Amino acid sequence: MADLLDRIRLNGDVPAHVAIIMDGNGRWAAERGLPRHLGHREGMKSVRETISAAVESGIDILTMFAFSTENWNRPRQEVTALMRLLQHYARRESDELKKQGVEVHVLGELDRMDESTRGAVDAIVADTRGGAALRLNLMISYGGREELIRSARLLAERVRQGEIAPHDIDESMLEATLFTRDVPSPDLLIRTSGECRISNFMLWQLAYTELHITPVYWPDFGRANLFEAILDYQSRDRRFGRVASS
Ligand code: IPE
Ligand code: IPE
Ligand code: MG
Repeated sequence: MADLLDRIRLNGDVPAHVAIIMDGNGRWAAERGLPRHLGHREGMKSVRETISAAVESGIDILTMFAFSTENWNRPRQEVTALMRLLQHYARRESDELKKQGVEVHVLGELDRMDESTRGAVDAIVADTRGGAALRLNLMISYGGREELIRSARLLAERVRQGEIAPHDIDESMLEATLFTRDVPSPDLLIRTSGECRISNFMLWQLAYTELHITPVYWPDFGRANLFEAILDYQSRDRRFGRVASS
């Protein structure tokens, strides 16, 4: 383990912002003949371990996709189990996250959450404010298309008020209307469970993000997997549409 981190350090720059689509909890459970919610519960251990490893590696921002807009369409029982788990996580992890210097932000359409989940989530955000080691964005009830629709509405409203003209709208003005307005785009996106798709995650922000897809199911993901993804990232040549760097 130490040598993966040593290799990362020798390579130099770590990605400043890593985003993760945490997928495969259901299949992890199914393979063991267990109900899906036990897969989600097991996945919480991976969340904990990945956050510690992110702090250890020197990443500044970690963004974790926990629940999508489309996930509201799952059976009610599963949605309830996920919301309960979220509440449980928020209540139980707050002290440990504070100790580690993790500042939690929760991004998404939060009004769709029930009152007690919303309360737990607001509390962890308030309790961890000021953490300087890592910014953690938990994406909950989040969808990339919804985020862009929201942006279009906000900008249209500003035009209607006469504050701006349509041709004033540029990348930075649009970015300022996103949930992620105060964070740079992810450098690296990790998706677990082998699915090669974005599933409506950060459609604007991922334009030039490096993708790392691993077959590992989220409950089996841990420190070594994060470090391997960072090493993979460090081997990439990011061109941003230009010619290769010499
Ligand atoms: C990811 O695991 C957790 C959420 C989407 C909330 P899944 O529940 O999607 O697990 P699979 O993809 O069915 O295995
Ligand atoms: C994406 O996983 C959403 C989260 C990880 C929260 P899904 O399991 O919902 O995505 P699909 O349905 O496989 O595209
Ligand atoms: Mg899935």
